[in-house]
Amino acid sequence: MGPHDFSETKFPPIESLDDLISELYKVFESDHVNVEYVKCLMESYVSNIADWRKFAKFDQYRYTRNLVDEGNGKFNLMILCWGEGHGSAVHDHADAHCFMKMLSGTLSEVRFSWPTDNTKQECLNEISRSNLKLDEVCYINDSLGLHRVENPSHVEPAVSLHLYSPPFSSCRMFDQRTGHETKCTVTFWSKYGERTPYGLDSSMVVPENN
Ligand code: SIN
Repeated sequence: MGPHDFSETKFPPIESLDDLISELYKVFESDHVNVEYVKCLMESYVSNIADWRKFAKFDQYRYTRNLVDEGNGKFNLMILCWGEGHGSAVHDHADAHCFMKMLSGTLSEVRFSWPTDNTKQECLNEISRSNLKLDEVCYINDSLGLHRVENPSHVEPAVSLHLYSPPFSSCRMFDQRTGHETKCTVTFWSKYGERTPYGLDSSMVVPENN
């Protein structure tokens, strides 16, 4: 078995979202995050709508962020619901690990390098483009660049499971055409299956003083 091959690693069978969450609690007890292991663990969960239906709340206009678990303060696990054509802005990950698994549909992910000179207005440089299909998991952190995600389908919604560690409540959004950055607050459309009170409830919210 190679250093990054966890195919023979024994973790308990992950038969439900609850099983996955229990195992994630164990993994994140340690301050060291084994990225390949977490990816493998998340891949081993086979999406079952019966497990996550109650968290999957859509909005007509933009993607929603729905908190599933606060992971003992070590990680935030959330379900993102993407209507047809919905997408995120280019953003960073506030020094956190970001794991993203497809639960339904397909998402496309476009990666960019960081702007090099913020005194100049320059289009962000695209590094890669890929599609994430059912049960696949991708990983990004700030050292790998910035990204934006979108549901390219005009007929099918998409649902993804995101793990951020450590949890963060603000990050930076970037204008793809100029590289201009804006601080944004990230909020939840629902928590634990219950709609959050109206107000700051969209996906990424730019504070008024920015
Ligand atoms: C993403 O595009 O990676 C989702 C961003 C978010 O967590 O709102």
